[in-house]
Amino acid sequence: MQTGRAVIETRHLTKAFPGVVAVDDLDLTIRAGEIFGFLGPNGAGKSTTIRMLLDLARPTSGRVEVFGLDPRVAAAAILRRVGYVPSEPAFSDQLTGRRFLREADALRGLDSSATREVMAERLDAELDRRIRELSTGNRQKIALLHALAHEPELIVLDEPTRGLDPLVQHTFHEMLREAARHGATVFLSSHSLAEVDRVADRVGVIREGRLVAVDTLAGLKERATTTIDLELASAPDVDRFRRLDGVRGAEADGTHLRVVVQGSVDALLRAALDDTEIHAVRSAAADLEDVFLDFYRAEDVEVEP
Ligand SMILES: Nc1ncnc2c1ncn2[C@@H]1O[C@H](COP(=O)(O)OP(=O)(O)OP(=O)(O)O)[C@@H](O)[C@H]1O
Ligand SMILES: [Mg+2]
Repeated sequence: MQTGRAVIETRHLTKAFPGVVAVDDLDLTIRAGEIFGFLGPNGAGKSTTIRMLLDLARPTSGRVEVFGLDPRVAAAAILRRVGYVPSEPAFSDQLTGRRFLREADALRGLDSSATREVMAERLDAELDRRIRELSTGNRQKIALLHALAHEPELIVLDEPTRGLDPLVQHTFHEMLREAARHGATVFLSSHSLAEVDRVADRVGVIREGRLVAVDTLAGLKERATTTIDLELASAPDVDRFRRLDGVRGAEADGTHLRVVVQGSVDALLRAALDDTEIHAVRSAAADLEDVFLDFYRAEDVEVEP
């Protein structure tokens, strides 16, 4: 995947508003077929970044290319190849969903009716009611169909699952993975770590306009810590455990040993078995959430290429 052609590329991309730098010197490369998750707290610059990809906002400095094209001069050509769910979809809401989607097809000069009907069925979307009569989630489904039904090369999603029930979210995630398998590239901004964990290959974390981490999910999980509780046959030498690779802390209470490990627990378990017998092991799952909360809060930011 790392070798595919770049579908989105930003270099020193910056957008300043009076009083705030919304996007600050952003370097990102998203390759064909990749599902890229874009996470960050409120006001971090996710929507502003997305809007610059589609010429809905213009950079103050730096550059952005989509399909190798500059959105400022080739927005129409880019938009024909993109499906976009904005953070606040706007509809001509007198129309029924089906009518709205047909008109979108007409504007794009294509016919996506076959895929649209299949996708609508899967999402349990109501195409025959006026959009304004729909519930929040059912309206969001129309926005998803608008972005997906024409099977675009690039799918840009700004918090697409807001308002969707878990079952529909699940189906939608499945549809994204299928699209990626067929070669589509997905750029997904989200507040949901669980969502990004389920679908994304790679994640970027943005905070106050700056990219504070870019990594695979596996890479980020490596940074997460696991708490392991061991019940041993005899009291352990705690210092020995503290010196092990990946161990971030250890304390003992009689024969009970609690160790916080980053990454693999291999060294810990081997050392314990070397020492004595293990009667019981309990572990609290690696907490990816904590890793992200650290990124969100971190004062010293760290960027990985
Ligand atoms: N049109 C605008 N004029 C002035 N400031 C803006 C404008 N659009 C965005 N901003 C500011 O830019 C910063 C980034 O906003 P942006 O909407 O990109 O954040 P976000 O990451 O999408 O947040 P959220 O998770 O709440 O959607 C914020 O400080 C916001 O107030
Ligand atoms: Mg936003």
